[in-house]
Amino acid sequence: MAIITFANTKGGAGKTTAVAIVACELIRMGFSVTVLDADPQLWFSKWHEKMGANAPRRLSVVSYVTAASLQGHIERGREASDFVLLDLPGARSPLLAQALGQSQYVIIPIQGSAMDAEGGANVIELIQYLADRANIRIPHSVVLTRINPMVTTRSLQTVKDVLASRRVHVFATPIIERAAYRDVFTSGETLYTADPDRISNLDKAQENAQALGLEVLRRVLPYTTKPVQREQMEFRKAG
Ligand SMILES: Nc1ncnc2c1ncn2[C@@H]1O[C@H](COP(=O)(O)OP(=O)(O)OP(=O)(O)O)[C@@H](O)[C@H]1O
Ligand SMILES: [Mg+2]
Repeated sequence: MAIITFANTKGGAGKTTAVAIVACELIRMGFSVTVLDADPQLWFSKWHEKMGANAPRRLSVVSYVTAASLQGHIERGREASDFVLLDLPGARSPLLAQALGQSQYVIIPIQGSAMDAEGGANVIELIQYLADRANIRIPHSVVLTRINPMVTTRSLQTVKDVLASRRVHVFATPIIERAAYRDVFTSGETLYTADPDRISNLDKAQENAQALGLEVLRRVLPYTTKPVQREQMEFRKAG
């Protein structure tokens, strides 16, 4: 029902972490999710593999997604799942333009730093170009990532001001910088399978993830493809 692409041409912006958070939250809300891992480093796929039997049942992961195979994976993912999340590699990739054109929604994770904002701006400019030149309108939002929960830095404020002046929608919920995210996702756990006695502030990370998950769902829902949704409901009734 919706393909959501996570893109920022600057590496390390927090794309894969954002994909993992949103995927887990959509699953917790009862949806099924396919993640297309287009990063040759297979960060998401490795996390999924590490989880083994603990992996959420409604999560499917497809590794080694390339420009040549993207279309087919999207079609199969659309049939199999309520949401398809596409995790792009950090560097500029031939997949980007193709992926944008296939997406119902694009989420651009940006750290509150100039370098990262540049990588995000590349994506926003490409979306703008598609709108101006090809009349292809792709709804998109920025999610601010790795935000210090205590202070607003000057560079973060600058990034926020630039986005506001360009009228880019920014999710009200930023992804907070928390060791819990790193620890959980590098150890093959989810925020809900990890041991709260061993991971500090797990509850705060859960709260943050839940707020973002809900906000993403509300934002993306109007752009989901209704006919497919209806078909799926028929299918579910029949099954
Ligand atoms: N909110 C966060 N709190 C703490 N650590 C984080 C957070 N977001 C990301 N990280 C850490 O920062 C690193 C980069 O994050 P991530 O892999 O999500 O970025 P990416 O944009 O997918 O990178 P790449 O461009 O290499 O694919 C990882 O080690 C991750 O654990
Ligand atoms: Mg990544």
